[in-house]
Parts: sequence; C-alpha cells; structure tokens
Amino acid sequence: MSSSPSSPGSRTTRRAFLATLAIGGAGLSAGAYTRYAEPTWLEVSEIPIDPAIFPAPSGLRILHLSDLHFGPHVSLELIERAVELGLAQRPDLIALTGDFVTGRLRETEAYAAVLRRLSAVAPTFACLGNHDAIVAAGPVGEIARTAAVMGLLRLAQIDVLVNETREVAVRGGRLKVSGLGDLWTGQNHPARCLTPIRGPGRESLPHLLLNHNPDARLAAMPYHWDLMLCGHTHGGQVGVPGLAEWIAPVRDKSHIEGLRKRAGRLIHITRGVGSLYGVRFWCRPQVSLLVVG
Ligand SMILES: [Fe+2]
Repeated sequence: MSSSPSSPGSRTTRRAFLATLAIGGAGLSAGAYTRYAEPTWLEVSEIPIDPAIFPAPSGLRILHLSDLHFGPHVSLELIERAVELGLAQRPDLIALTGDFVTGRLRETEAYAAVLRRLSAVAPTFACLGNHDAIVAAGPVGEIARTAAVMGLLRLAQIDVLVNETREVAVRGGRLKVSGLGDLWTGQNHPARCLTPIRGPGRESLPHLLLNHNPDARLAAMPYHWDLMLCGHTHGGQVGVPGLAEWIAPVRDKSHIEGLRKRAGRLIHITRGVGSLYGVRFWCRPQVSLLVVG
C-alpha cells in the first residue's frame, strides 16, 4: 500500500531526507572551510616574554615564523602575506624555525625575494626542519634538498644556523642566537654550539635558541639557553581536543603550541604558516610576535 502525501510515513521520510541534506550540507561546508578558508586565514599573536627568564633589552620584538612549507598546498602568496603581517609588527629580530618547503624546492628566485624582505628589515636567523632534509628522500635526495634550501636562505641573506651560535646587537643590547639541526634527520647536536650547565650561574648574555622540533628540547636541557623557539607541530592542524594530540608529530603531547615554562626556561611553539595537505580546522596559521617585558 502506498502512502498519501500527507500520511505519517510520508512526513517521516521527508524529515529524514531534510536531516540528511542538513548533515550533508554541514559536512560539505566544514570540508570546504577546512580546505579553502582556514589554511589561509592568518592570525597574528603577541606573546609577552618574562625578562626575568630572557633578560633581553626591554621591549625587544622577535618575529617568529615557521613551517612555511612552500609547495603543492601552500602558495607563495600566503607566505608573502605572512611576511607582510610579520613586518607590520615592527620586529627587531626575526627567527624562522624550519620546514621551508614541501617536496622539491621550486621558484627559488621568487621565494628568496619574498624572504629577503625579512632580512632587509632586521637580523634574520633560521634553523632547518625535517622537510628541508627529508630522510625519506634517501641519501642523495637529502643532500640535494638541504643544499637547495641552504642556497635559498643564503640568497635571501638569512643566516642559517646548523648547530651554530652568533652574537647579535639589537635594541641597544646584545644577545646570543643559536640554531640546532633537525632531530628527525639526525642533525641535532646541541653540544656543538651550546655551553654545558655546570652550576647555578647563567650566561652573561640572553640566549635565544632556534630548534625545529620541540621534542629536541630534552637533549638541549643540560645546556645554557633561555628562550627556545620551535615549530614542526603546526598546532596539530586540527584544533579538536584529542585529535590534535593524535595528529601532532611529537612524542611529548604537552608541547603542541603556545608558550611553556620548563626548568626556568621558556619554550615557544608556533602553529606555523603553512600546512601539510592544505587543511586546517580550528587551528589557524600563525604569525607570532614575542615581546620582552
Ligand atoms: Fe612542518
């Protein structure tokens, strides 16, 4: 027996159909937002830094960008907007904490021109990430990728620190800047550039440490530094509790994003600018500005 248009059976079927449409529409909207809206919706975050822990000149402004991931899913246009937003914060010092590419480096000259805008304004330092020397590419690919990214950064007049330390004059004071090699690619060697802690005293200069993967902080804890800047996690890329922790590629899930205080030192993990696979949900790409004092 068939139902008439106004029969109870017909109303139930219509409600189920409308509910399916609503759920499907919401799913499509969330998917479109995750793929096409949020990955390019940059957020500027200002993070105060305690001068008792990092005794740099008062008011020092450090721009922290990470995980630019120029490649199939991240455009140079997005990176340039991040650079412009960062420069609008009037930084005294700029730190880039690795993963400059996804896959093979392309458009080197154009990419270098965008990054050179940073070094033209303030002393700019970088460390490398796992994607800049990806192990999966094999020994030949690894070397080729690293050389290409190092070449890009040199072209952009950015000082790349691979287990190296510099002294820099900023805002009427001096500080040390060190950069470690990447953990996953076996290049993380803090002993090559940091001084072991042997007693209660601290170094004479405030010490900023660039280190792509926050898990690598454990190896750096026996050495002098005051403020560590990391990326790598992309904040988990999906800001859903439980899922972000599962996705973020770190052992220590308490260091996925934000500022942490550990053993009298500070560790800042930025969500980064780019992403993998071009998706972000409730975890916007970030331009981080750290301000001392
Ligand atoms: Fe990354």
